[in-house]
Amino acid sequence: MIGRLNHVAIAVPDLAAATAQYAQTLGAAVTVPQDLAEHGVTVVFVTLPNTKIELLAPFGPASPIQGFLDKNPSGGIHHLCYEVPDIHAARDRMLAEGARVLGAIKTGAHGKPVLFLHPKDFTGTLIELEQA
Ligand code: CO
Repeated sequence: MIGRLNHVAIAVPDLAAATAQYAQTLGAAVTVPQDLAEHGVTVVFVTLPNTKIELLAPFGPASPIQGFLDKNPSGGIHHLCYEVPDIHAARDRMLAEGARVLGAIKTGAHGKPVLFLHPKDFTGTLIELEQA
């Protein structure tokens, strides 16, 4: 069912510093920051030839990544995003397989529908599925 690795997301305490590090130190192409109020994050995408890196910083007072940054103050890998052809079929399959789907299907950073799967069901890794 899953296809390409769409992105690896890294939670960062300082988005400007992390963006500058990827752009200047590592010499990567980066996007401008984008506030995603529905997700409680501000994102910058690093575009690589074969995938993307999503730099995530908290947006708003109740950001879902604040707890992660409290536990990992210098930042860390937050989730992996895999592409699926049909998000509703993917959700139904995950539920039938006994995996926990976190919340509802939402619109993700690329304007496409996404959902999240509980890390305890996937070897300690938060999984995002995005309709390609
Ligand atoms: Co993501």
